[in-house]
This record gives sequence, structure tokens and C-alpha cells, in this order.
Amino acid sequence: MTISEAAYRETAHAIQHQTRHTPTIGLILGSGLGPLVDQIENSEVIPYDALPNWPSSTVLGHAGRLVIGELEGQTVLAMQGRLHFYEGYDMAQVTLPVRVMRLLGIDTLILTNAAGGINPDFSAGDIMVIEDHIFPPGMAGINPLFGPNLGMFGPRFPINTHVYNPTLRKLAHKVAQAHDLAVWEGIYVSLAGPTFETPAEVRMLRQWGGDAVGMSTAPEALIAYHAGMRVLGFSSIANMAMDSTDAQEEVSHEEVLRAGESIVPRLATIIRGVLRDLPPFDPTEMENHPEP
Ligand code: HPA
Repeated sequence: MTISEAAYRETAHAIQHQTRHTPTIGLILGSGLGPLVDQIENSEVIPYDALPNWPSSTVLGHAGRLVIGELEGQTVLAMQGRLHFYEGYDMAQVTLPVRVMRLLGIDTLILTNAAGGINPDFSAGDIMVIEDHIFPPGMAGINPLFGPNLGMFGPRFPINTHVYNPTLRKLAHKVAQAHDLAVWEGIYVSLAGPTFETPAEVRMLRQWGGDAVGMSTAPEALIAYHAGMRVLGFSSIANMAMDSTDAQEEVSHEEVLRAGESIVPRLATIIRGVLRDLPPFDPTEMENHPEP
């Protein structure tokens, strides 16, 4: 599905009509991480079904609404409930919110997800700052930038060397350290889902250099970076991915949601600290710019 420039603008205008805030920070909250929005002050709520062109969120643990308000002196627009490819939306629909954010003037996007740990040093409950990603569906053509390029957002062939902003990653570690919170940094593998990986697939992803695996985030990060936005990503390690057919335990969506609950307070501390000390956005530092 191709989404027209007019459709993105229509959705952005609908949001502008329903809020008095002018957000500059976008926040997309993964499975079980929705309660982070409770900390947003002076908030206004817009349900997804009040917005034209906006797909509705169908996954348990994803509320399906925008919460716009203030957090640590920044004006944020949070998606409580993200959209996933496995729900049957195509990659353009999954990433529509990010382009709408760009049209609203948002220049910085913070992405969070629940993920399975692949790195054997990880445990359930850990937090990982995303250094970079591996996105096999995108490499194989299920890519949010597939189709005609909308040059008003960014270039036909975007550079992707620094998708996850190095300065913001450093800041996240600094904040975590200041609060005595342990965080890893690593490579997120973004798959299409909805199936969890087989043990053979987990071993393959580990050999590829993956540290965590999930079913989101890379599409939104690529669309944001294409459009010249800064991106910071966090994986909350909800479970360890099963790497042996001899394993007795099973991964379940309920386990993913429970782990999210234990991670929310720590992740909230880190995200709040990043927002508090966020350096000003400088568009000239971005690798991708709109086409003339
Ligand atoms: N695999 C893929 N996605 C996930 C997992 C997992 O183990 N845990 C949470 N999301």
C-alpha cells in the first residue's frame, strides 16, 4: 500500500486539532511498557480510532492511543501501543505514525520494545540500548521504504550508518550509570513475527551477531532516520530466546508482559534522564535530508 503525502498531512492535521501541545519528542512503547505514559503531565489522550488513516492496535498489552503532554520539560507524543507487521498491516501502515510525527515537528524518536535475549550473558529483566539492528525482512524486500520515494521526507537511497544516534546512546549510558542501573548495548534483530524463533534460528541469529530479537522497531527506526530524525532505542529483555530443542521452558506473551512490568520503573528513570539532559537537535548532523 502506498500512503499519499495528502494522507500523512490529513492525519497530522487531525492530531493538531485535538491537542494544544506542540510535541518535539516521539515515544513508541513496546509490549508491557505502556505504563510509562502514566508519568506524562498535563496529558491529552487521542484514541487511534479518532484519527483518519491510522491503523488500530490489536495486540494485548498495547492500548491503542496517543498520549501527548510534558515529561522532564520536553513536550512528548507517546504511542501507547505500536503497530506490527504481523497484525496484517503492511510496512507503510506500520510506520505511518513516524512520518506523521515528523510532520508535527517531532525531531527525536525514542523506541522501546520487548525482546528475547540471544546474547548468553543477558537475563530476563535486563535492558539493552540498541547500538544497531539486523532487519532480515527489510533486506528481503519487506521494507518500509519499498515503492516510490516521497522526497519531502528523505532521499531515495538513505544512508544507515548511524541510525541509533551515538550521542543519545552515550547519554543513556551516562544516565543509567548515575542511577546505578545496569544496561547492555547490542544488536537488535527485527523479524516479522508472529512466531517465536525456533532454537536453530536463535543459534543462527547469535552467529550473525544479534544480541536480542523481536518483532518491531527496525521499520520505525528506518523511517525516522530516512526523515532526518534522531533515534534512540531500548530493548527490554523479556525472556531468553530458546536455543535448544532440549529446553523445558516455553516463551509466552504473558511472560513478556510480566517482565515489562519489572522493567518499566528502570526504563522510565533512564528515559526521563535522557529527556532532562537532551542536547538540542541539530539537523545538519543528520546523514539524510529531504530531496530538493
Ligand atoms: N522472540 C521474538 N520476539 C520477542 C521475544 C522473543 O523471544 N520476546 C519478546 N518479543
